[in-house]
Amino acid sequence: MLLEILFGSQTGTAEDVSERFSCMARSTDVECRVRSLDSIRSIEDLGTYILFIVSTTGDGEEPENMRQFWRIIMKKSLSLIPSILSHIHYGLIGLGDSTYPKFNFVAKKLSKRLEQLGAQAICDKVLADEQHPHGIDGCIDQTFTKIFWKTFGDLIGREFQPRMDQRLPSKYQIQWIDDYEKDSSSSQISINNSKIPPGYTSVPLISNTRVTSLDHWQDVRLLEFDTNLPYKCGDVAVILPQCSLTSVHLLANLLNIENKLHKNFIASNEISSLSMTVLELFRDYLHITRIPSRSFFEKLMWFSNDERERERLVEFLQPENIDDLYTYCHRPRRTSVEVLQDFPHTASCIPFNYVFDFFSLIRPRSFSIASSPKIHQNRVQLLVAIVRYKTIIALYREGLCSNYLCRLQPNEHILMRISSSFNLINDNQPAIMIGPGTGVAPFRGWILERSLNDQLLNMLFFGCRYRTKDAYIENDLLKDTINLIYIPAYSRDQEEKIYVQHKIIEYGHLVWEWIKHKQARIYLAGNAKQVPEQVSDALKDVFIKYGHMTNEQADVYLREMERTQQFQRETWS
Ligand SMILES: Cc1cc2nc3c(=O)[nH]c(=O)nc-3n(C[C@H](O)[C@H](O)[C@H](O)COP(=O)(O)OP(=O)(O)OC[C@H]3O[C@@H](n4cnc5c(N)ncnc54)[C@H](O)[C@@H]3O)c2cc1C
Ligand SMILES: Cc1cc2nc3c(=O)[nH]c(=O)nc-3n(C[C@H](O)[C@H](O)[C@H](O)COP(=O)(O)O)c2cc1C
Repeated sequence: MLLEILFGSQTGTAEDVSERFSCMARSTDVECRVRSLDSIRSIEDLGTYILFIVSTTGDGEEPENMRQFWRIIMKKSLSLIPSILSHIHYGLIGLGDSTYPKFNFVAKKLSKRLEQLGAQAICDKVLADEQHPHGIDGCIDQTFTKIFWKTFGDLIGREFQPRMDQRLPSKYQIQWIDDYEKDSSSSQISINNSKIPPGYTSVPLISNTRVTSLDHWQDVRLLEFDTNLPYKCGDVAVILPQCSLTSVHLLANLLNIENKLHKNFIASNEISSLSMTVLELFRDYLHITRIPSRSFFEKLMWFSNDERERERLVEFLQPENIDDLYTYCHRPRRTSVEVLQDFPHTASCIPFNYVFDFFSLIRPRSFSIASSPKIHQNRVQLLVAIVRYKTIIALYREGLCSNYLCRLQPNEHILMRISSSFNLINDNQPAIMIGPGTGVAPFRGWILERSLNDQLLNMLFFGCRYRTKDAYIENDLLKDTINLIYIPAYSRDQEEKIYVQHKIIEYGHLVWEWIKHKQARIYLAGNAKQVPEQVSDALKDVFIKYGHMTNEQADVYLREMERTQQFQRETWS
């Protein structure tokens, strides 16, 4: 009996959770296949027993690797066939964050759709929340796991006791190239020598300029790349970052594999094979600095012979100690490599072929393109805020991709692909753009491009802290644009804090006039957490004050603007 685990994951968490459930299945000899939802080509591809694990990204959107499945399952024609999915028994885990307005939107929608099409739930869905005191692992607690396996077992007439303490075979088999060359009988393995993943292009950096003043806490870079990749304003550059060499050496040292860093190997299983050096694996493929999930510790147990370390692992994995594990990993945002440093004996016992089981793949990051193909020919420009912060226990942390970009020198190459993202509509209607911080990025190139036509009206609300330190958009836009009404909100240049939402209210008469009488479209980009709600509230205030609406009417009016795409948002955390 095959259990399919199908995931939709943007930053890898749902994929991690899928792997954990797959390990549980494998520990009880259940045949199990894990794949992304986009490997489903038609509704007939869906098996009988499925565990869906889906996250929500963007502003309540589905992850990129389930977009195609979303179109398939949402097809209107499916509703015409009664109970088309009645043969399917499924479990559903949603991953989300309750600080976003559309909490677990994708899982909720998927659940409704599966029910509509007649699929039968094995047990109640879980809507896991990053904000749960014990994080995602805390939500997918023992209860869901137990009920899921128990009911699944009942359905197929078997009893399951999934265990995570039993070492499973590694996902990949490893052959060092020297050995491989000697052993001619293995020559049928096809080596994938291409180091560039499908869809990506290697593009050189031209310049990397800090655009905030040196005495400002936030480092923001304007990066320019030389490329003729086709794009339009509103698209994003999707970038594959690398882990730092410091972490690579640290890990190699802990695994006792420093002397093999430059050796080539082939990793293969029934489905795929790849060839690279250990250095490339740790730097370009595996996210070795990610915060480890619970299953990382479960796997450490497989190799732990040292009494003290083993005791500590056992403690962490007790269901009642979930809080301790969370406090140890998440509060200080401890990386996997740092955890291995705390368990050096265990780390030194991890065989190299298991590294694929311990670490997930590096996920690409998206950046709004801040240039215009009409103005900046053969160039892609990005405005990148470098993520650096101190944790609650005063440890210094760096975001993977923004710091990788920050370190780049001219002529160094990165892997990039272009993906469409924000639907900036190119018609004659005026555009009201709201872009606090690097949220201004998608509007930068677009405003310059729209300036080529003096009939087009633009209004930009930009937010930063200080006019003299981080108003980086002003140099570019104010000298080269016509028909731009520029309304900055410098939050800390005066005693009381002023943000874009305050400026929207201050300029409410103009905003309302553009919306009501000129059918202006509104675009908001930037921080996903508080800004969308605060901007929505400000817009509603404007509708109430200048459009003479009640609260409810303003609410309906804004929702209608969203439905008709007169108001669009592209936000990120
Ligand atoms: C459609 C889209 C467009 C985007 N456009 C841009 C853009 O134009 N410019 C831009 O700079 N970014 C943009 N981003 C964000 C970008 O993709 C990355 O998410 C961002 O650069 C961080 O990636 P990173 O790898 O450096 O950090 P990661 O290694 O992914 O770490 C980021 C994580 O660190 C944690 N974190 C960050 N700060 C703190 C803190 N103070 N305390 C505790 N934890 C913290 C958070 O959990 C956060 O999720 C965009 C994102 C999307 C989805
Ligand atoms: C850019 C971005 C947008 C997000 N948008 C939402 C959202 O609209 N609703 C929600 O519930 N969670 C949202 N989240 C939280 C994610 O769903 C949550 O972090 C999840 O664990 C990610 O799983 P994944 O790594 O498999 O994609 C968002 C996270 C990010 C980084």
